[in-house]
Amino acid sequence: MTHGSCRFKSGSGHHFRVCGEQKGNFVALYYTRTVEKDREYWWCACGRSAEQPFCDGSHKGTGVSPVQYVATRDREVFFCGCKRTDNAPLCDGSHEL
Ligand code: FES
Repeated sequence: MTHGSCRFKSGSGHHFRVCGEQKGNFVALYYTRTVEKDREYWWCACGRSAEQPFCDGSHKGTGVSPVQYVATRDREVFFCGCKRTDNAPLCDGSHEL
């Protein structure tokens, strides 16, 4: 799929935007993950984690903190990948802007 100068790719629950002006850079739009009821998850808000969309501690020194998410039921969740959501940690479509 294309959008302007960008191409979109998907695979293994990852959805990426690849823009011509950002050769080699992959910007995650969102991540689909299956979560378990009552389990706690920590969403990476800084974008540095190698374990996206979850925190791996790489935010240290950035002044950014991860956001807690507790699943209310077993379900598939769309976690924000672009880090611009106003509904952290969930995707709100801000990556389209
Ligand atoms: S690694 Fe990004 S918030 Fe922890």
